[in-house]
Amino acid sequence: MASNVRIVDVAEVPNRPSSPKVALNILLSLVTGLGLGVGLAFFFEYLDKSVKTPEEILQVGGIPAIGVVPAMRPDGAGLRVIRTDGGEPARGPLVELISHEDPKSKISEAFREVRTALLVSQAGGPPKTILITSACPGEGKTAIAINLAITLAQIGRRVLLVDADLRRPRIHRIFQIGNGHGLSTCLSASDLLWPEPLKSPIQRLDLIPSGPMPPNPADLLDSDRFARVQTEFLEQGYDHIIYDSPPVLPVADPVIMAARVDAVALVVLAGVTSRDALAHVVRRLQQVKARAVGAILNRADLSSQSYYYGYSYKRYYGDDDKPEAPPAASPEPRRDRTVRA
Ligand SMILES: Nc1ncnc2c1ncn2[C@@H]1O[C@H](COP(=O)(O)OP(=O)(O)OP(=O)(O)O)[C@@H](O)[C@H]1O
Ligand SMILES: [Mg+2]
Repeated sequence: MASNVRIVDVAEVPNRPSSPKVALNILLSLVTGLGLGVGLAFFFEYLDKSVKTPEEILQVGGIPAIGVVPAMRPDGAGLRVIRTDGGEPARGPLVELISHEDPKSKISEAFREVRTALLVSQAGGPPKTILITSACPGEGKTAIAINLAITLAQIGRRVLLVDADLRRPRIHRIFQIGNGHGLSTCLSASDLLWPEPLKSPIQRLDLIPSGPMPPNPADLLDSDRFARVQTEFLEQGYDHIIYDSPPVLPVADPVIMAARVDAVALVVLAGVTSRDALAHVVRRLQQVKARAVGAILNRADLSSQSYYYGYSYKRYYGDDDKPEAPPAASPEPRRDRTVRA
């Protein structure tokens, strides 16, 4: 039977598959992935309301950044080693005492920069009474107050460090001194007892611990007695009185004190303190006409901002990985004297 089917062209086996188009797919997924990644990065940046740079401090709070303190890494200085053989636990320098125990470290250098900025922060001369505070708990107020006091003592100033955090005091623990008598007992005593400064292991640095926790810290600090105690401190010839304090947002104490000191320095925990919190704190300080001289960006990750600050942390003093042996501590802190008004 005759057929009308004929071969027009012979089918050829293709030498490569028509699908999938690998090169095109790779290109498309690269472009899509990159676009999504960049988009997500902007989205997260938009969601992140924390303060991370000195520029943001100025922009949000309207006050200058007077220092950037790097985070002390747990794998470096400060690592605590727990001994299992029952011996004394070995420890490196504490961040709170780093300016004394390892003055050549980068972090100590940062504290010296804060000191310099504070000393020149006001036209009328260096502030005598300085309050260190922050918006929220755990942002580094105590660590910065202690290091600032140490660095001021290191340049020959007589410094009194007062633990005015009557709610969660920590200075007595760091210096391992008694806390039976301090600011609170002096403020609540029926007659004005001079709070007896204790000698610290650091030359020219004296301490007033918080004393036992009172039932009404804000009322105590609001009293005329605080003003009289402060006058007493100044009459003792201290060049600077540094107050550690509780955070501003949960309690009223720091705002009350802020109105009575020459300078207030705010601590901002890099990447954690929110812009709203910083703006709110600055507003509260303005309401009492406190002199907020600036903010210290604490625990900053310098590696991510090296283009800003790298120059500050060069090793000026040679090898700073080997901490110097700290000067021997005085055996017993001693009470100086008791004064009655
Ligand atoms: N730059 C830093 N690098 C590493 N750790 C730090 C740094 N600054 C502070 N810390 C640590 O953070 C913790 C909180 O610091 P600190 O007690 O000084 O904060 P605070 O604001 O005084 O807290 P509180 O509101 O409870 O009084 C402490 O364990 C301290 O050792
Ligand atoms: Mg504290």
